[in-house]
Amino acid sequence: MANLVSYYKEGNVAVIAVDNPPVNALSPGVPEGIMEGLRWALMHDDVEAVVLAGRGRTFIAGADIREFEKIHAGHHGSLEGIHLLLADIEDSDKPVIAAIHGTALGGGLEVAMACHYRVAVPSAQVGQPEVKLGIIPGGEGTQRLPRLAGVRKALEMCAFGEPIRAAQAKAAGIVDELIEGDLLPGAIAFARQVTTRTPPLASRKTAAPDPEAVAAAHEAASKRLRGQTAPHAAIDAVEAASRLPFREGCQVEARLFAECLASDQSKALIHAFFGERTVSKVPGIGKDVEILPIRRAAVVGAGTMGAGIAMVYANAGIPVLLKEANEAALDRGMATIAQNYANSVKRGRFTSEFAEERLRLITPHVNYSGFEAADIVIEAVFENMELKKRTFAELDKVTRSNAILATNTSTLNIDEIASATSRPWMVAGHHFFSPANVMRLIEIVRGKETSAQVIATSMDLARRLRKVGVLVGNCRGFAGNRMFAPYCRESVFLVEEGNTPEQVDGALYGFGMAMGPLAVQDLAGLDVGCRIRSEFKHLEQPGLRYPELDSLLYGAGHYGQKTGRGFYIYDAARKPSPNPEVLTLAREYAAKAGIAPHPASIEEIVERCVYALINEGARVVEEGIALRSVDLDIIYINGYGFPSWRGGPMKYADLTGLPKVYAKVRQFHDRFGEHWKPAPLLEHLARHNSTFGAYDKSKAGAA
Ligand code: 3HC
Ligand code: NAI
Repeated sequence: MANLVSYYKEGNVAVIAVDNPPVNALSPGVPEGIMEGLRWALMHDDVEAVVLAGRGRTFIAGADIREFEKIHAGHHGSLEGIHLLLADIEDSDKPVIAAIHGTALGGGLEVAMACHYRVAVPSAQVGQPEVKLGIIPGGEGTQRLPRLAGVRKALEMCAFGEPIRAAQAKAAGIVDELIEGDLLPGAIAFARQVTTRTPPLASRKTAAPDPEAVAAAHEAASKRLRGQTAPHAAIDAVEAASRLPFREGCQVEARLFAECLASDQSKALIHAFFGERTVSKVPGIGKDVEILPIRRAAVVGAGTMGAGIAMVYANAGIPVLLKEANEAALDRGMATIAQNYANSVKRGRFTSEFAEERLRLITPHVNYSGFEAADIVIEAVFENMELKKRTFAELDKVTRSNAILATNTSTLNIDEIASATSRPWMVAGHHFFSPANVMRLIEIVRGKETSAQVIATSMDLARRLRKVGVLVGNCRGFAGNRMFAPYCRESVFLVEEGNTPEQVDGALYGFGMAMGPLAVQDLAGLDVGCRIRSEFKHLEQPGLRYPELDSLLYGAGHYGQKTGRGFYIYDAARKPSPNPEVLTLAREYAAKAGIAPHPASIEEIVERCVYALINEGARVVEEGIALRSVDLDIIYINGYGFPSWRGGPMKYADLTGLPKVYAKVRQFHDRFGEHWKPAPLLEHLARHNSTFGAYDKSKAGAA
């Protein structure tokens, strides 16, 4: 305990310092250590005030989330200490001052609010991010925050989880003083000024009811955090603070907190929290692997993807050359970029100065001039192997031998592309998702010769670009698109069987997907999907059913959004409405192909699409294309609009129960044939009543 919390005197002020790296979480031992320090301070007559601070990079960043994981796994997780600590601090008759730097989040802010005063450096942030973990503040935060900052502010912070800066916290009444210089001396000086005052208690204040703000918060949460239960529970708890005495409000909070913690949504979101951090860890590539400096970048191709990728680099402050085949295409690409920045300024995302500065970092060219200075090149030309190989052969000549050559291909073989260079170890896939400047995912594709340095640099670079990089192996579609193919296949089959696109998409939207699969295909372009399929036609198995309806639409010149017609009809604002032609085409095709009409329930639609994703995911994990099943969850949450509160497809399967998923996949296999052959890993885990999560752990243990 002594090494988690230390305490000492600075004249008449006691300093209690939490030292639990990396984020000073309230792990078991920390609350107890602070309480011990407090008792020590209270015992010493010469101590007149107490400063509570965090060592290292931050104040307390919250409860220890691993404790929640333990509770989810049915073990004992320790949270009691936090409540005892809050009471001890508040009861102290010597004023306790929280000295905040870094992030005071969740339980961290709750401890600070139990203190009598709070001071912070201007760079500090405070927040109640618990809803991002599927829970609500459980350390009396829903009761103290509205009493300090008002119901409206508390609703905003507790229901949506975004932190606020110190200056905003000061304006809201959460922080009492901003310390411009060094925090600790400033906090001690502040403490000396308040020794003679009666310590003010947040719990004694009242929060005025604000039914309008409560109703607006519920409405906004239903839209912005569709499907999630914790934001509504947080709103209810804050509302209780304006109605009930403090202790009764705390009981409401405790009940709602317990309900949320027991939910699958919190299991899923906590899985996603740790998953996002796990994917950055690549077995065999330790911290000792050198990360190559990336100071200048270049992008080849200024189409949909290239333009977005150039923006990603510019937004991270990295100067980038953008090369096109000709002036006309280059002008189009630069115009798209300028328009995107203008839209961001209009929406208040960027200031116009920031946007101009970023735009200046992008230098357009129709040749390779300046490429010799690039540390990395990202190729985003048309999806054509011959063109890609030609481009890589050129890049091999015009760049330095230690420059990384990355391709944004979505389906092609990285090794074949790398073979066009004299340095295949410097080649990797950097598979961005459309729109590249918005979607957080980059699949980093490892070729058979890609060096450890290139992988380590790519993973580090993803973080610098404010993306989530997930390492995957080289196969058709890599991890994400390979799984997406059977998911889309089932969605088209369902329409061929007489279900409307609105029914199919509606079921999956209801499940929580950001968009239904047919709307996604319209967005990506039915031409793109059909062209890719025709490239791989030779791999199709004779006698097996393949989707046709999308090809029929494509054949009729309907490519989706870009032509205004696909599975839906789009108006000028790209708003979809039903396309009656789809059902006619489906009926005619089904009659010809002997496909019986099959009205599917919402449950069946979801199962056929999502279980197809899971079954392929199991193969991707088993083949080692993904390092772990959690990597697929992070890919799907960040690249495909899978609801984070379901934890990603593999966690969703675990939560549903693999025996149930497997039984259904077998049924579909019997009913629909070979596409549904159960993946061996799914079968194995289901038969042993195990989970993908346990499989990940066993692999990590074996490594
Ligand atoms: N508990 C346990 N581990 C935590 C943690 C926490 N609260 N916060 C961060 N960590 C771990 C991470 O998993 C990571 O571990 P790793 O190195 O083994 O992968 C390590 O600390 C560093 O975290 P980051 O990589 O995220 O570091 P950053 O500097 O990028 O970010 C941060 C720091 C902003 C504090 C970020 O970690 C964060 O947002 N943490 C979560 C904060 C949070 O949600 N707090 C509320 C917890 S719930 C609660 O308090 C309930 C209460 O009401 C009772
Ligand atoms: P696009 O057709 O919008 O853009 C390709 C651009 O490359 C065109 O502007 C073209 O003029 C340019 N180009 C062709 N040859 C060139 C050369 N020799 N030098 C410079 N520029 C050249 O295509 P898009 O959609 O941007 O796709 C690019 C790559 O990204 C493809 O490999 C694709 O598979 C991949 N991808 C596409 C996604 C999407 O949603 N569109 C998502 C993820 C990857």
